Parts: sequence; C-alpha cells; structure tokens
Amino acid sequence: MALLEIIVAPDPRLKRKSEPVATVDAATAKLMADMLETMYDAPGVGLAAPQVGVTKRIIVADPAGEKATPQPIKMANPEIVWFSEEKKLHEEGCLSLPQEYDNVERPDKIRVKYIDENNQPQELEADGLLSVIIQHEMDHLEGVLFVDHISSLKRNMIMRRLTKQKKMGKRHVAMETA
Ligand code: NI
Repeated sequence: MALLEIIVAPDPRLKRKSEPVATVDAATAKLMADMLETMYDAPGVGLAAPQVGVTKRIIVADPAGEKATPQPIKMANPEIVWFSEEKKLHEEGCLSLPQEYDNVERPDKIRVKYIDENNQPQELEADGLLSVIIQHEMDHLEGVLFVDHISSLKRNMIMRRLTKQKKMGKRHVAMETA
C-alpha cells in the first residue's frame, strides 16, 4: 500500500466531474486500499478519488474515527437511490480544505447503490455521520466542495484564506530550494 498526495484547494482538479468505473479490477481495488490508508493517515473520515488526482467515481469512508473499531467502506460508482425528506445540519470539513469547517444542510438518511472492492453490487442505508460523509464524498465526484453549499460570503472568505496559504507555502518551498 502507499500514501497518496491529497490535493488542496483551490485547484482545478477538484472541480472536474469524475468518470464511472467500468470494472473494479485489481488496480481499482489497490487504489481503494491506498485511498483508505491515505485517509486514515491524514486523518480523515472520507476521501474521494479526485482528491488524489484520479477522476474516477470512487470514494472511501470510515465513520468510526480514530478511537473506535474501524468500519472501512469502499465504493465505486455510488448512486443515491433514495433520500429522506428530513434534512439535518452538520458541521463538515474536508481534507482538501484544511482547517476549514462550516455547517451544511443535507438529507438525514440515504440509500446508496454501489460496486464494492470485489466488483459486487451492494446497497447500503446510511444515516447520521455516515450519511453526511457519503454525500460529501459523492459531491467531490461532481467537482463540488462543501463550501459550494454555504453562502458566497463565507465561501469567498475560506477560498481567500486557502489561496493565501498556498502562496505562502510555495514561497517557502522556493526559499528552501533557492
Ligand atoms: Ni472533502
């Protein structure tokens, strides 16, 4: 297994729409395992393929967090087949938007259809944190970030902060290599 580099916003690669996976073969299964390892290392509770530069419809998640027994979930071509009328507000963060958090309203419960790491079709009903994570990660497959769900005022503030950090980071690297 290998740790992958997580792309940090703003970056055009995070705005692309991802392509469906034709077959979950050994290479896809390895990518899923590497994504999960990268997510645990970060640490985070979810990761989508575009965040590691792969525009394929693949997400991984683990709602258990660091202290509980791991509950890894790997999905290819996830598709929401049902969602509840009831919505809930939940604070979200993103490994591609480090240190930034805000409340996002989403359907409370979902049922999602997907292909697992053995290329088998599966269906899962999720609520609470897992439901939030799956919806957040599926947004990444459409090039949508959680900040796209909040007010433009807050979004612009966050993106300005991230742009500034990126510039400072680049300057730092330039100084080190100079
Ligand atoms: Ni994210």
